[in-house]
Formats: sequence, structure tokens, C-alpha cells
Amino acid sequence: MRTLTGIQPSGILHLGNYLGAMQPAIAAQDQPGDCYYFIADYHSMTSLLDPQKRRDYTLGVALDWLACGLDPAKAVLWRQSDVPEVCELAWMLGTLAPMGLLERAHSYKDKTARGIAANVGLFTYPVLMAADILLFNTTHVPVGRDQKQHVEMTRDMAIKFNLSYGETFTIPESVIRDESAVVPGLDGQKMSKSYGNTLELFGEEKATRKKIMGIPMDSRTPAEPKPDADQNIAIRLLKVVAEPTLAAETEEKLRAGGLGYGDLKKILFEQVWTHFAPARARRAELVANLDHVEKTLQDGAAKARAVAAPVLDRARRACGLR
Ligand code: ADP
Ligand code: TRP
Repeated sequence: MRTLTGIQPSGILHLGNYLGAMQPAIAAQDQPGDCYYFIADYHSMTSLLDPQKRRDYTLGVALDWLACGLDPAKAVLWRQSDVPEVCELAWMLGTLAPMGLLERAHSYKDKTARGIAANVGLFTYPVLMAADILLFNTTHVPVGRDQKQHVEMTRDMAIKFNLSYGETFTIPESVIRDESAVVPGLDGQKMSKSYGNTLELFGEEKATRKKIMGIPMDSRTPAEPKPDADQNIAIRLLKVVAEPTLAAETEEKLRAGGLGYGDLKKILFEQVWTHFAPARARRAELVANLDHVEKTLQDGAAKARAVAAPVLDRARRACGLR
């Protein structure tokens, strides 16, 4: 069993990234099998054009992974672009990916529907992601639900390669946890760096409080019962960060009437803030030792490369390249 996932350094990481991808990936460290986690800086180029921001976000993602519990003794962490072999594999897989398959990608369609002018990289994004996964003989890919289709496309490309050129790739599967498949953003849409509706993992206290207190609510008075309490954004967020009993009790109070939205948001803030307190302290230590973080990434790249090389070699031979 090999678990692999990637996160783009296209912004500051948020609760959706943590619950959809990082938390299950970190939990996998203590299961049998090995763990490969990377910072998808090539992918970030499809949407981010500022090199300094890319460097800053890349460091931020590395710090966040380590602060949240990625243990370099148990998992390999690297920058995608430190193993550029992935681009060669992406080329090979692209030649087997039908246009129609990529045209059906939800994330591509969503982005173009929002008026983002598509570049070829954005269109072929799932091919590079397939290369990320297949280059490491991955069996399990923890992601949020928005990435499920990309993992299915990866399977399609791997199966097609194996049929065309002989057994070469392991067929991976996505790992999606029901309870955090789609973490809602502060506006009720999917939380996403691109929608400006995120709750950052390591935001400042004041800013985090302000964001939470600003979550829009309806105009019902505190005393009114709220039969739709389970739909409330603060309740939905509470369910992913708080102890289940506290979340359930709070939801019940809101449903019955008597709990005001201001108090509800205060509870949510306290829970978010305490949930990440240990990770915040670890992150501060890491920031004071950035050389160590860089070394971790470089050691990770060397390990990742050693795994990738024979797989790429096998793929090259299979398709008749030297
Ligand atoms: P974003 O949409 O903020 O740009 P990414 O596309 O970089 O986030 O996602 C990185 C990982 O975090 C992926 O596995 C993705 O599925 C997961 N993820 C992102 N947003 C959410 C969310 N709101 N709920 C659950 N998982 C999410
Ligand atoms: N596409 C993923 C996202 O935006 C990031 C990613 C790139 C990834 N390559 C991957 C995730 C490989 C899992 C496996 O969320």
C-alpha cells in the first residue's frame, strides 16, 4: 500500500485542504505502507504567475504539512519540480488521453465557467496529476471530493497505457472521507483558495475571529427554533473541528431555539483556535529553523527520485523509447 497526495502552492492553506487531504494523509503515516506527499508547484503555474508568491506559498505549504504532523521519518515530502521526471511521464500519458476525457473535467469546466481564460496547462492539468500518481506506484490517494474525477481519469490513463504497452502501472484509488469530502467555505460554497471564502489554518487570531464573526446568517432571533440547524455553516464547520458531542449539543441547542448566532460563532472560533494550537506552536519552531525545512524537502526529493526512476524507465521501455 502506498499513499500519495499533493497540494498546490497557489495560496494559503485552509480548513478544506486540511480536512480533505492533510489529515487523512497524516493519519496514514501510522498505517502499514508508505507515504509520499508533495507540493504541486508545477500545477500552481496554471493559475499563479508570480514567482515570489510561488516561492512563499511553497514554503508555507511545507511548513503547514510539517506543523500539522507530517513526520519526515515516516513520510516523504518534496517539491514536485525537484523531480522533473514527472513531466516526461505526463507527456507519455497525454498521448493516450482523449480530448473528450479532459473536456469533461469538472474542475476545468468550473474554472472556465467562472470566466478564467484557460491555458493549455489548465486543460492538461489532470494528465500531470496522473503522472504524479503513477510515477510512484501509488495505491491510495487521499483527497477532497473535488479531486475524485481526476483520480478516475488517472485510472483510465493507467489502464489504457497497460493495455497498449503491457502491464506498467499500478491502478490507484481515491480515499475520500464522507464527513469532510466537501468542507463549506464562509459563504456556504465549497471552501477554496480560488473563491476567497477560506478559513486559514494559521491565520492571525484577530483576523480569524473577524472572519468567523462575519459569517453571514439569517435574521431569525436567538429564541426562534431552527429546524434547519444542520444546514448552518457554523454548525457544519463545527462538526469538522470540534468533538462530536460538543458539535451535536450545539446543533441541538440551535435547533431548539435559545442559542444566538453570535454565541454560536464564538463557540466555533474557540474550537478552531484550540484545535490548531499545538500545530501553531510547532509551526513557530519550524519558522525559526528554515534551513532544516529546506533540507527536509531536498532529502525528500532524493528519496522520491529513487522511487520514480525505475518506474519511468519501465514506462519508457514499454512504449519503445530507449
Ligand atoms: P483549493 O480548492 O483551495 O485551491 P486545492 O485544489 O489545492 O485547494 O486542494 C488541495 C487538496 O485539498 C485536494 O485534495 C482537495 O480535494 C482538498 N480540498 C480543497 N478544498 C476542500 C474542501 N473545501 N473540502 C474538502 N477538501 C478540500
Ligand atoms: N490537483 C490537486 C488539487 O488541486 C493537487 C494535486 C496535484 C494532486 N497532483 C496530485 C493531488 C496528485 C493528489 C495526487 O487539489
